[in-house]
Amino acid sequence: MSELLNVTIRDRICQILLNRPEKKNALTLAMYEALTQALVSADADPGVRVILLGSTSDSFCSGNDIADFIAASSRPDAVAAPLAFLQTIASLAKPVMAVVPGAAVGIGTTLLLHCDLVIASDQARFQLPFARLGLVPEGGSSLLFPQLVGHRRAFELLVMGESFSAATARELGLINRVVMLQSLQDLAMLEAGKLAALAPEAVRLSKAMLRSHTQSQLEAVLVAEVEQFASRLGSAEAAEALQAFMEKREPDFSRF
Ligand code: COA
Repeated sequence: MSELLNVTIRDRICQILLNRPEKKNALTLAMYEALTQALVSADADPGVRVILLGSTSDSFCSGNDIADFIAASSRPDAVAAPLAFLQTIASLAKPVMAVVPGAAVGIGTTLLLHCDLVIASDQARFQLPFARLGLVPEGGSSLLFPQLVGHRRAFELLVMGESFSAATARELGLINRVVMLQSLQDLAMLEAGKLAALAPEAVRLSKAMLRSHTQSQLEAVLVAEVEQFASRLGSAEAAEALQAFMEKREPDFSRF
């Protein structure tokens, strides 16, 4: 198993932990591929009842690796691995819990829309900086956020793109619970244990039922978003924003 992912199975809980602390768990193409593989294996493993997605460090996931975004601007097929990951997490039969200790940015936030239970620490910060990066929403968020919070709040989150706290994320319905950082792991394991003890088929059928009403629409939206996203990666606006991130400066969109 990739060292950028830490996967363990204990007490019918498969823990998949992102492990790239020096880059705040920014996702590379290799990490998407490893994540997809780990999710598919856990979903197929009869010894697993709950999939828990978390981090080995204080950051949850700082989104797609920006250097990979820059490389992808000349290789539009580079969005295949993120798309496969999103399609996989959006179609898992088993329940998925996310445990968010700190920063959750871009896909680090949108992937939560595909989880069934989300517990975050009081230190967690969420952000969807797509438009700020000259990009467009991904991860099914153009469908699922307006459904969750209505158009105006979805616009504010996805277009204005300012970061928000765990308390706000809970108020929006993006996460279930906020707990102190030092209790996060224990509480997450307690909740995962409760979920793993429930009747597994009833849990899976209930999950499928809850998702069934939007599933086919979501599948189409995931593909349509990624197509627009790939084309935006080649735009001059995105080039300016991504370069600005690498140079640790604010982007300048005044010439557009
Ligand atoms: N891609 C590539 N590198 C990233 C990254 C990303 N998405 N997120 C963070 N990093 C790198 C930083 O460049 C820095 O690298 P360096 O040590 O070589 O300079 C390192 O990770 C630590 O990040 P830093 O910004 O110093 O940490 P922080 O605690 O001050 O802030 C974040 C953490 C996550 C809030 C901040 O890094 C951030 O906003 N990242 C960008 C997120 C983003 O825009 N993602 C794409 C969404 S579509």
